[in-house]
Amino acid sequence: MLIREAHNQDIDQLVAIEELCYDQPWLREVFEEEIERDDDAGVGIVAEDEGLVVGFLTGMAVVDEFYLHNLAVHPDFRGRGIGRGLLEAAESLCNQRDFRSILLEVREDNEAARQLYLDLGFEAAGTRKDYYGPGQNAYMYIKHLGSK
Ligand SMILES: CC(C)(COP(=O)(O)OP(=O)(O)OC[C@H]1O[C@@H](n2cnc3c(N)ncnc32)[C@H](O)[C@@H]1OP(=O)(O)O)[C@@H](O)C(=O)NCCC(=O)NCCS
Repeated sequence: MLIREAHNQDIDQLVAIEELCYDQPWLREVFEEEIERDDDAGVGIVAEDEGLVVGFLTGMAVVDEFYLHNLAVHPDFRGRGIGRGLLEAAESLCNQRDFRSILLEVREDNEAARQLYLDLGFEAAGTRKDYYGPGQNAYMYIKHLGSK
């Protein structure tokens, strides 16, 4: 398993995984916006197995904080540490760039993702009511980095 930076050529595979993972998948344009940006604010990381992208993480740096926007692993490749590996790679990048924290939202009924974030030291930081639609609330999670 190789974890590496995402490139423009990966976007078709990211869109395919996105559509397998979510009822309301992101459109291709959203991936293009984060991965093809000219500045270094957009972050895209992929997990590759035998030349195929099997998972990804994307987000955006805002000053010294990183907003994790998306993390998904192909259903056939879950439970093998890929989500954890992607998140650890993002955290390592954030530490290299001396970021203060990583922030994200997760659906309150998404047990797998919430357990992953808690395992990696994220803390609940509040809720957003109806964030994903009526009756579909989000938890906000944060991980403080380094000594900040
Ligand atoms: C959440 C997701 C990314 C996890 O990816 P994964 O590669 O299967 O996760 P890992 O194998 O790295 O698991 C790491 C930890 O996450 C937690 N976890 C993962 N799957 C879990 C499950 N089904 N139930 C409970 N905890 C789970 C466990 O703590 C696990 O540690 P362990 O293996 O020591 O028990 C994956 O389930 C996914 O793509 N889901 C759909 C998209 C999504 O919901 N993304 C999150 C948006 S906020």
